Amino acid sequence: MKVTVTTRSGRELIKGGLELSDSATVTDLQEAIHKRILMYNGAHFTWTLCATLEVSMDTSKIAIGWIMDMDKRSVHGHHGVLWTLWTLSKKYYPSRQRLILPLPPGSKGRPTVLHYKKSLKEYVDGNKNELTVVFKDLGPQVNYSTLFFFEYLGPLILYPVFYYFPDVYQLFGYKGERVTHPAQSYALYYWSLHYFKRIMETFFVHRFSHATSPLSNVFRNCAYYWTFGAWIAYYVNHPLYTPVSDRQMKVGFAFGLLCQVSNFYCHILLRSLRSSDGGGYQIPYGFLFNIVTCANYTTEIYQWLGFNVATQTIAGCVFMAVAASIMTNWALAKHRRLKKIYLMGKREDQNIRGDG
Ligand SMILES: NC(=O)c1ccc[n+]([C@@H]2O[C@H](COP(=O)([O-])OP(=O)(O)OC[C@H]3O[C@@H](n4cnc5c(N)ncnc54)[C@H](OP(=O)(O)O)[C@@H]3O)[C@@H](O)[C@H]2O)c1
Repeated sequence: MKVTVTTRSGRELIKGGLELSDSATVTDLQEAIHKRILMYNGAHFTWTLCATLEVSMDTSKIAIGWIMDMDKRSVHGHHGVLWTLWTLSKKYYPSRQRLILPLPPGSKGRPTVLHYKKSLKEYVDGNKNELTVVFKDLGPQVNYSTLFFFEYLGPLILYPVFYYFPDVYQLFGYKGERVTHPAQSYALYYWSLHYFKRIMETFFVHRFSHATSPLSNVFRNCAYYWTFGAWIAYYVNHPLYTPVSDRQMKVGFAFGLLCQVSNFYCHILLRSLRSSDGGGYQIPYGFLFNIVTCANYTTEIYQWLGFNVATQTIAGCVFMAVAASIMTNWALAKHRRLKKIYLMGKREDQNIRGDG
């Protein structure tokens, strides 16, 4: 199959296109693009290098072969040339590439994004044996599990700092001793359980449809979770903190725990919608999914409600309001996507998740 790869401005990215087997997948195409860009950049770089150092062009061929294999070797050292070649080899690796089908001129619709697990044949018109795709560089990528791990690690570490080291409040001008209330201890256990659960779900429960997310999301999401985590921890563990009544605290934590368990069960149900190597979206069913489309978000919001009933801080309520508005938007988008797929028979392969 002949594949023409263009940039968004319509310029041909790979001169002469690529020839791939009829059974090739989108991942095969991305790897072929990576290889060709690497060869081009590598050749250009080594040509410049050879011209500068006045060494033979054979050196360039050896170097290109070498860098193509570099990941498989254990290379150490900081030789400038090798480092540059290695950097080139990292550029435009498959998960950095977003491939879409070109839109007909004048069309305002959303373009179809090629899914990395699918066969190229699925995107070919009729019996044609050629395909044109538009390439976009998504920038440096990280695995979803890495992104989630780091965003949840912050709250998991920062919160106990305020509980176990009350001296930090001296930095904020509070000199007196702190008396720890039971509500503060339960809040610590509740909070730690929540983020520990999320990390475990990330590694052992979720079946993500996309392997990676832009590196910039790590900084954005960490800023969100780490800042809110520290802010809430600061107020709940404050020496001047006034606990709610014993009854209110117990009702809040009990309700919140019930919602955390329900949230875990919702994630198990979502996992069962996909095989280990599958993507795609199914209509979730069973348990609270029989009532709402995104029962996982509903239970997540309610478990924060339980935490806030039990601890009653402004910081906790602000976090809940922000999280609820984010999840409501995502839930509405996910509901629309399922309606499009199952009621209107249209495919929508765009990622709706906000990467958080
Ligand atoms: N506090 C906050 O601000 C906040 C914000 C958002 C989320 N959260 C929490 O973080 C958890 C994870 O959220 P998330 O948005 O990353 O993931 P999610 O929507 O809860 O989904 C979890 C996993 O199930 C998959 N999935 C979802 N709907 C599916 C469907 N209809 N068919 C097949 N698979 C489906 C997702 O796949 P994909 O990879 O395709 O998405 C993902 O791998 C949430 O449940 C919530 O507890 C908190």
